[in-house]
Amino acid sequence: MKKFFVIGNPIAHSLSPILQNHWLKENNIDATYDKIKLEDLQIKNFIRDIKDQKIAGCNVTVPFKKTVIPFLDELSPEAGLTQSVNTITFDSGNLVGHNTDIAGFYTAIKKLNFALEGKKVLILGAGGVVPSIIFALKNMHVQEITISNRTREKAENLRLLFDDLKILEWGNLTDFNMVINATSLGLNNETINLNFSSLGQDKLFYDVIYNPYETPFLKMGRKLGCRTENGKTMFVYQALEAFKLWHKIEPKVNTDTYKLLDND
Ligand code: ATR
Repeated sequence: MKKFFVIGNPIAHSLSPILQNHWLKENNIDATYDKIKLEDLQIKNFIRDIKDQKIAGCNVTVPFKKTVIPFLDELSPEAGLTQSVNTITFDSGNLVGHNTDIAGFYTAIKKLNFALEGKKVLILGAGGVVPSIIFALKNMHVQEITISNRTREKAENLRLLFDDLKILEWGNLTDFNMVINATSLGLNNETINLNFSSLGQDKLFYDVIYNPYETPFLKMGRKLGCRTENGKTMFVYQALEAFKLWHKIEPKVNTDTYKLLDND
């Protein structure tokens, strides 16, 4: 039986196994999908097991999306440009790193019908998923992307990948059409100490977090009369793209799919 995994640290919170196992069953595929917590030093051997086909493939989450790259044979163009891998496949003897976070975010925004072309986007945070979000936003032809991160250096490092980013000191605000919370603030109900109240209502507040369903950041956006969206659709579609890469089948997404992930 083929074995798939999601690797990360921490990993206990991951809902990928629920979703992937649901689709495996629905499509009568004889395979398993589990989560596994790894330490840095274990990554090399784990990936070797994919090359040896003891493991069929894996998803990669925080903090290993970049760590895995030196152990792979090839990167998809998107994974190369973002230096971020969230899915590993084994194709014709080669370990290939893919980035399906980009398609996940892109699909989630397209489904909202919030026109972003020529618009301004403010991203809070500079962690693992941010290069993928920037890549997708550029594909949507936004006019300006500003990054604000507590550790300024990490925002500046993103300029090595995307040279036209603006950087804003953490704690300050600038005008935007869409603001994205890509920090971990909100996972445990923490608020973000920014006052958005003078900026008007025609904005989109987007949170990468989907559990809890509504972070204090999204609650604030809703109270200001803005549109809000959590990261659930992005999560589902990054998983769908990974499933397609491994099994060459497009799994179904419907209300039952989303219900699987309702755990709060
Ligand atoms: P990683 O940074 O390992 O990729 P992540 O979960 O993808 O992990 O990113 C965490 C993000 O939340 C970072 O942007 C982090 O800011 P720093 O780069 O300064 O660490 C941000 N973050 C976490 N806790 C925060 C806090 N208390 N205040 C502000 N930002 C915070």
